[in-house]
Amino acid sequence: MHLKNEMFHEVPKTEEQKSHQKVTVVGIGAVGMAAAFSVLAQNVSSDIALVDVFENKLKGEMMDLQHGSRFLKNAKITADTDLSVSAGSRLIIVTAGARQKEGESRLDLVQRNVEIYKGLIPKLVEYSPETTLLIVSNPVDIMTYVAWKLSGLPKNRVIGSGTNLDSSRFSFLLAQRLNVAPTSMHGWIIGEHGDSSVPVWSGVNIAGIRLREINPHAGHEEKDAENWNDCHKEVVDAAYEIIKLKGYTSWAIGLSCADIASSIFENTNAVKAVSTFVQGIHGIDKEVFLSLPCVLNANGVVSVVKQKLSEDEMAKLHASAKLMDEVQKGLQF
Ligand SMILES: NC(=O)c1ccc[n+]([C@@H]2O[C@H](COP(=O)([O-])OP(=O)(O)OC[C@H]3O[C@@H](n4cnc5c(N)ncnc54)[C@H](O)[C@@H]3O)[C@@H](O)[C@H]2O)c1
Repeated sequence: MHLKNEMFHEVPKTEEQKSHQKVTVVGIGAVGMAAAFSVLAQNVSSDIALVDVFENKLKGEMMDLQHGSRFLKNAKITADTDLSVSAGSRLIIVTAGARQKEGESRLDLVQRNVEIYKGLIPKLVEYSPETTLLIVSNPVDIMTYVAWKLSGLPKNRVIGSGTNLDSSRFSFLLAQRLNVAPTSMHGWIIGEHGDSSVPVWSGVNIAGIRLREINPHAGHEEKDAENWNDCHKEVVDAAYEIIKLKGYTSWAIGLSCADIASSIFENTNAVKAVSTFVQGIHGIDKEVFLSLPCVLNANGVVSVVKQKLSEDEMAKLHASAKLMDEVQKGLQF
């Protein structure tokens, strides 16, 4: 203390300076840590709290990140098993839950993760009433609905990471075929993050030139001689394939979380495919969350882009909504 007094003149503080960009990551498995690392490395936030039930792992992850502080922007990294560490968060990224086992579908996980959410979501919101929730645990569209129900937050502030990841995978695979950057390849996947996801082939384009202007059957399951639909099949199989190869997926979903977080923190009005409340949109009458292109800013989801969907795409979106609704009806709250 003596040395500190010799080195600095203290400037009187008027009130405790609060961080306006605090992020809490709940669940520090492969996905949670990739999200935390992406948020820190991309300077989306330099105030991160980590929460998990494993005390040792938490301490280890916190220390490991703290030791990288010199390469970050004076980041504040805290961790605790007690949810109070999350207090005052502007964004809470929830990845807690069971992960898919080899061959297990995302929908198989559901009731296990609902039980975990019952113990988490109401308390998290109590500690951070102004927060926005970014839900990542699978099945993500259902868990976003569950989080919305349990949180009492308005719909615009409960967001599922949804098909932002699928759309990135899709753009990457399409872009590889045409040798352009994935950022210049505009391809959207909407609907469920999972097996019933919907590729919007009618809109896939580079610089406004739609694939379907050149190949009217692009993406069609039977009629397309160029088999563009293989790109969507690869997106659907991606998680299964990566889990078979390395046991879990992490980096791309971590980056996707940071991408969504930065739109909120920087108030960008960027359009991202995230899971949002879709009742009343595209004629959907069910109380479900699915991904559509959403405008994201400091208020969360502020509007949903009215995409012109083909009959086939619309039918697939409705099938996703029906599936979500059926699963939700079986949930024990
Ligand atoms: N939405 C997506 O695009 C996407 C992508 C990949 C994975 N996921 C999902 O994310 C989730 C996490 O995946 P993972 O690979 O990191 O799993 P993981 O098993 O590595 O990590 C999950 C963590 O959650 C913690 N946890 C469990 N119950 C908790 C509780 N009550 N409170 C706090 N922490 C708790 C566990 O201790 C564990 O550390 C899974 O549901 C997975 O399916 C979603």
